[in-house]
Amino acid sequence: MVLIEQLLSKQEVALYRQHLDQVPWLDGKGTAMGMAADVKDNGQADASHDTVRQLANTLLAKFGETAQLVSSVLPHKIFPPCFNRYSKGETYGFHVDAAIMRMPNSADVLRSDMSMTLFLSEPDEYEGGELVIQTEFGEQRIKPKAGDAVTYPSSSLHQVTPVTSGVRIAAITWMQSMVQDPHVRELLYELDQNIQQLLANDAVPREQLDSLHHVYHNLIRKHSVI
Ligand code: NI
Repeated sequence: MVLIEQLLSKQEVALYRQHLDQVPWLDGKGTAMGMAADVKDNGQADASHDTVRQLANTLLAKFGETAQLVSSVLPHKIFPPCFNRYSKGETYGFHVDAAIMRMPNSADVLRSDMSMTLFLSEPDEYEGGELVIQTEFGEQRIKPKAGDAVTYPSSSLHQVTPVTSGVRIAAITWMQSMVQDPHVRELLYELDQNIQQLLANDAVPREQLDSLHHVYHNLIRKHSVI
């Protein structure tokens, strides 16, 4: 699980929110598969609407430029983000995300390795509405600032607790990683973070960085399936 702080700036969040105020919203059950539909009670911006499609594409490009996201997930495919909204009383009970998803308007499919929620509401705009993720270290409850995103394994049980007042707006997506094994992915992320720190240090000899880059890229070469 990785918290990506300020993936969107406050100004960017405000812009998305302005646009989302003006698009049609549908019942979120329509896009839930199988058992998830039974526990899903929220609204979803109409993905076939032009403005929504543009917002999703802009956000998709932003994801690709977010170094921390690219480094931690090593995405091969990213599902066009969906925008959802929880008003008073709405919730999404415990579920796991579908393993295989068909990419919109395409014959291509995506295996969901990592899910991501990007928060577009400030935590003081709503009560409840926490993202709760069951991990091997117990339950994680997440309610970060608007513009922050959190990634978590799509295979984990997770829920959005009922919103008891206000409105919670977020974007969600699913990603297929080039590296399916989460432990290998974690090690690669740690290695890359260390390389980035060394890069910022002028005292580190160039040859040593080259050597670490060599190791990093050859590990990706060995472990990636695309
Ligand atoms: Ni989910």
